[in-house]
Amino acid sequence: MTGSFWLLQTKVDPSVYLFILVILLLIVWANKKQRDGLNWPPGPRPWPIVGNILQMGNDSLPFKKLKEFRKKYGDVFTIWFGPIRVVFLNGAAIKDALLQPGDTFSGRPDISFFRNFLKGRTISFSSINEEWHTRHKSTKQAVGELMNKGHLQTIVNAEINATLEVFKNTKATPFNCQEILQDAVGRTIFQMCFGPLEGQHGKDTLKRYVQAIVGLPDELPYLMLAELYPVLEPFLRKHKRAFYNKSDYLVGIIDNHRSYLEEMGLISESEEYAENSIMDILKQKDADLYKYVILDLMGAGTDVLSTTMYIFILYMTIFPDVQTKIKREINESLDVDDIIEPIDIAKLPYTEATIYEILRHARPTMVGIPHATTRDAKINGYDIAKGTVILPNYESILYDDQLWKDPFEFNPNRMLTSTGQVDVEKKRLIPAFGIGKRKCLGKPIGQMSIHLFVMRIMQACSFRPVLGEEPSLDWIPNLVLRPKPFKVRIQI
Ligand code: HEM
Repeated sequence: MTGSFWLLQTKVDPSVYLFILVILLLIVWANKKQRDGLNWPPGPRPWPIVGNILQMGNDSLPFKKLKEFRKKYGDVFTIWFGPIRVVFLNGAAIKDALLQPGDTFSGRPDISFFRNFLKGRTISFSSINEEWHTRHKSTKQAVGELMNKGHLQTIVNAEINATLEVFKNTKATPFNCQEILQDAVGRTIFQMCFGPLEGQHGKDTLKRYVQAIVGLPDELPYLMLAELYPVLEPFLRKHKRAFYNKSDYLVGIIDNHRSYLEEMGLISESEEYAENSIMDILKQKDADLYKYVILDLMGAGTDVLSTTMYIFILYMTIFPDVQTKIKREINESLDVDDIIEPIDIAKLPYTEATIYEILRHARPTMVGIPHATTRDAKINGYDIAKGTVILPNYESILYDDQLWKDPFEFNPNRMLTSTGQVDVEKKRLIPAFGIGKRKCLGKPIGQMSIHLFVMRIMQACSFRPVLGEEPSLDWIPNLVLRPKPFKVRIQI
């Protein structure tokens, strides 16, 4: 739904608007009429056709406006995205709703993209039902099994080694590391799903696969536009086709995985392979399911995890004093010859505090994936009908001046207690992985990967800005908030 914030940037012939005006007025009118009698959360008065989109302001990020609306209407308010009603939750109302017993706030919107993407057999996008619960449980167990056996840690470490090698070869020339990080994370999740990768050829082929996955969300704003205004669908058909063709192609590769991947030299037929991949664990439960879940995991995990790593490097480059402190802490607490384990993060409170302060300040998953109500509900005294789209505005927690002093300031020390330990209560306040039943299934993988990545790269590398091309804290919104591309000089 964050895609909707760009809708205004898409140029459409004004005559098309005129043509659809009457139809949409009727839709909006009918929609409101249908719900008369309910005590809906308040919100700004919607305009015909565009709803409240024009009132969201010109910023690519809508937070300023959301903050204003919260001040005026309280923690629960309504915003119309064209003809679709969206209820925004803020502050304490987020937990009140998402932690309600049962699945009331854990659905996904009933719109064609969510229904059709990967035949509705994903974990991320399909609504909550018995089939979803089975799929979620099996996948969670499979991820847990791989984590417990330590396979995942081995894969993550091997990919960090490969990344460090690339960093070293840049020889401190200006370098944008975004694609390298996407490839490394994509390879990690791919190997978690399929088993170990074979050789350089495999890596090169996989690069194209990973880049296709990371590029999928680029079509989302157009899909959302077609979703809001079906009359525009003919004009947006090429984007829709591009999106579904790409995802079908990606599923097809997984479908023919064994012969295809072996042919491409991507994987081996080792004994170990059979027991050490999500695919084989899931296949024992459902012969068909794994291909959708695997693409979902690659899609859900690759972009957000690699972006979080990219953001970490951005902050290190912009805040050299923080970088110096982290390097000092690591040098004093970890031996260069020791193998770094995920639990070593406990020896590095300032480093861990910085990771959480970055998750707070940069808020890569600002609203997560949209939720929807699965039955009629009440929150803060307001009625919310079954099937309403719900957006938890996590920024209202992350930047709440009641919880954080000077919330716009980046300050890792705020995450520490007076004795220099990580403040567990403050850490808990940061809902980077979501809240409730739909919280991130890959959280243990994400946390382990970030901790290992940060400890190892900060032990080995320093990041310096490129003179005249200094990076900034400017963001490109999508399902994941990405920094504007930047270059750094990496010294090893
Ligand atoms: C820094 C790393 C990550 C962050 C910050 C993150 C954050 C999130 C957030 C905010 C959500 C949405 C929660 C909601 O709907 O309320 C989510 C969902 C999800 N994430 Fe992650 N994630 C990360 C890494 C990963 C990885 C590595 C994987 C898998 C390999 C993964 C798999 C998923 C899945 C499958 C869902 C959908 C859960 C559902 O709909 O029930 N994530 N994640």
